[in-house]
Amino acid sequence: MTANPTEASATPSSSLAAPAEGEPYLLTPGPLTTSIRTKRAMLRDWGSRDNAFRDITEDIRRRLVAMANGGDDYDCVPMQGSGTFSVEAALASFIPREGKALMLINGAYGERAAKILDYLGRNYITHHTGEYEPPAPEEVDQILSHDKDITDVFVVHCETSSGVLNPVKEIADIVARHNCRLIIDSMSAFGAIDLNAREVPFEVMVSSANKCIEGVPGFGFIVARKDALERAEGNSHSLSLDVHDQWVNMNKTRQWRFTPPTHTIAAFREALLQHEEEGGVAGRNARYSRNHQVLVEGMREMGFHTLLRDEQMAPVITTFYSPADPNFHFESFYDALAERGYVIYPGKLTEAETFRLGCIGYLDEHVMRGLVQAMRAVLDAMGVTDCSPESPAIAGAAE
Ligand SMILES: Cc1ncc(COP(=O)(O)O)c(C=O)c1O
Repeated sequence: MTANPTEASATPSSSLAAPAEGEPYLLTPGPLTTSIRTKRAMLRDWGSRDNAFRDITEDIRRRLVAMANGGDDYDCVPMQGSGTFSVEAALASFIPREGKALMLINGAYGERAAKILDYLGRNYITHHTGEYEPPAPEEVDQILSHDKDITDVFVVHCETSSGVLNPVKEIADIVARHNCRLIIDSMSAFGAIDLNAREVPFEVMVSSANKCIEGVPGFGFIVARKDALERAEGNSHSLSLDVHDQWVNMNKTRQWRFTPPTHTIAAFREALLQHEEEGGVAGRNARYSRNHQVLVEGMREMGFHTLLRDEQMAPVITTFYSPADPNFHFESFYDALAERGYVIYPGKLTEAETFRLGCIGYLDEHVMRGLVQAMRAVLDAMGVTDCSPESPAIAGAAE
């Protein structure tokens, strides 16, 4: 496999040091490419009861509340496992057993959250808007006006299955007006797309270590109102996923209840410091937006079409239609790019052949240019002469 440049011989024009010798760049929704500094933070074993490690946990929680501008009203509860574990923990802990949820679904992660409620036996209704259309706030308003039993609303911030950005601010205002509570899955957005608790009145937000904060996988985290955390007592079906219990114990002992992923946590603190040095959410957003712009421009120049219109896309992950050219085969395209040091991602739509390219992780515009160049070479070698999709009208594809 062609490695990305070593740290010593990093791409001359790149502002980022290369992640590590021999590794490909990950153009995926996570796990992501991380910096060598983040990886190095894992080269030490920590005693989970050691005071220095407890300080790290406390520091992380404090920084994450600050990132959401939660002030004294919010607290952060990290939870072992991948992002789905935190989503499940949040749904089980914050939706009361006698509550009723409205699940706004426009992709795989909304579907998954509803499936979790099936497992939990919680009462819910869904509002589906297809595989990528955002929910219209006025429709949410109507549903909440007609069904007064709804207590909680769930929405995904950036639906990573398509890359669409959902209007969480407008939805949060409506949910608050109806005296309901909002749970946001901001897994792939938090840290790069502003989510300010003073402007977006959410009750609970869920994200994970290995998305826009550029840590490594191993835990997720929940930022929630303290009064919601208090009310969550006794709701969860599960001891290990009980957010209330994790919160109470963490506040009392500064420790995780059960074995924490110590190396991941130490790496995450280092990732948070780099996030801050880059200019926080605004700085990270600027880099990812540039990545997204360079990528989309380069792809459109080659003749690819994006699934979404420009104003619908988040600078997180972009869905492209696969070319209709009979010489295009995704598996060979994938393998040839991986050979050149770029790992891409398959599509997740049922109605059209697509693939996805992530803009998040320790990547900059130079990496994106390298990726576009590699794609050009691979498509030439495959004999693909036309990158346009079979039927761009399927989804109002944008050129
Ligand atoms: C919006 C969203 N929710 C939930 C998840 C699930 O996270 P994980 O795969 O870490 O369990 C993801 C993963 O990409 C996601 O993008």
